[in-house]
Amino acid sequence: MSTKVTLTYNNISVDLPVITGTENESAVDIAALRSAANLITLDPGYKNTGSCLSTITFLDGDLGILRYRGYAIEELAEKATFLEVAYLLIFGELPNIDQLTKFQNDIKANSFVDEDVKKIIDAFPKAAHPMGVLASLTSALTAFNPSSVNVDSDEDMYKAIAKIMGKFPVLVAWTMRKTQGLPIDYGAKDLDYIENIMKMMFSQPNETYIINKSVKEALNKLLILHADHEQNCSTSTVRIVGSSQAGLFASLSAGISALWGPLHGGANQAVLEMLEAIRLDGGDTEKFLNKAKDKDDPFRLMGFGHRVYKNFDPRARIIKKAADEVLDDLGIDDPVLDIAKALEREALKDPYFVDRKLYPNVDFYSGIIYRSLGIPVQMFTVMFALGRLPGWIAQWREMRKGKEPIGRPRQIYTGPTLRSYIDISKR
Ligand code: CMC
Repeated sequence: MSTKVTLTYNNISVDLPVITGTENESAVDIAALRSAANLITLDPGYKNTGSCLSTITFLDGDLGILRYRGYAIEELAEKATFLEVAYLLIFGELPNIDQLTKFQNDIKANSFVDEDVKKIIDAFPKAAHPMGVLASLTSALTAFNPSSVNVDSDEDMYKAIAKIMGKFPVLVAWTMRKTQGLPIDYGAKDLDYIENIMKMMFSQPNETYIINKSVKEALNKLLILHADHEQNCSTSTVRIVGSSQAGLFASLSAGISALWGPLHGGANQAVLEMLEAIRLDGGDTEKFLNKAKDKDDPFRLMGFGHRVYKNFDPRARIIKKAADEVLDDLGIDDPVLDIAKALEREALKDPYFVDRKLYPNVDFYSGIIYRSLGIPVQMFTVMFALGRLPGWIAQWREMRKGKEPIGRPRQIYTGPTLRSYIDISKR
């Protein structure tokens, strides 16, 4: 296989090295192009641009493969705990018992959030979208943990990781309880990571909280499935913000904002709202498929399509099965699950979706599970963020440890050429 590409432009020939990854994906390294031929590359939306070398997550969109550090997502979702997966993503290997215990204890020791943060939460209107609140609170954590900006210190980096892994679920739970007018729950020392999330989110003030095994398993699985997805919009945001040497919490806060949009993590909220709208409209799935196909109608089939997966999204397959299992276990009959299945069935036969390789993505069925667990619709994307946290941390850490240069794309200017200033009285 050739290890270089030769590009000729204006009689100048430039040899560009070809970089090949461990899964045989290849890329042309265009770094020398500008100095040698005065050319840059143009790729709006970065549809065909690799921004980094990474050892964290591999995905093959044609074959529907997703692996964290070499482990198949199907196996991790079946056998691992979320905290094991977090350790794997961040530090590169599955932890042994001692490593996991230390990680767990460090996180637990750092799971208190300064009481003053409550004043910030209280200042938000009750109806504020939880993603906006969460982004603000995550950024605010820097003020309460100033050493977290020492991005070149391994020790401070580890402390910042333990702190955010401990405090983030608290912020998530507090944010949700604020919208529900419920008092804050501090979790309990003897509970594990997932159990604490559940207690802090779902406990009622006048009841002892009992852990439901099905809910715990479903939450563990969902968080693992969301834990990383290589260079997506929010992860690229975290890396690019971090590349300016901004601290971990500020970088994560930017990632949360990027995730919020309906074309990214916000799709899980949009899917459930869409399914509800279809139900209230009488359940005519064909009508909504036609709307999605109509180029004059802005409606898109939310939870369908993916920039990289062009065959199937392996996460969606696992989540669809889990949705059936959880609803069955909890004895819930949710009519929108039938609507979702009908939409999927019909879309997968429809040439519009088949030709464009549009399949259900991770967000298509996840909201149905979240709703069955008692999570309000506006919190769905927050749950995505809770799962994605270790992936963002791992990617930020990889970028920092690799001492990557500041992210700063170029552009081709298409505006006016030089012109003279005209006095305001003459314009
Ligand atoms: N409904 C109807 N048409 C669609 C859809 C959809 N959901 N998705 C893509 N298309 C059409 C699109 O109109 C275009 O058609 P044409 O070639 O005729 O112009 C073609 O398919 C290619 O779409 P694209 O927008 O150029 O593809 P993209 O890779 O830029 O966008 C996407 C990917 C995920 C943003 C898009 O598929 C979409 O908007 N899906 C709905 C939102 C969604 O579910 N987002 C969650 C993504 S997965 C989780 C995550 O990243 O957080």
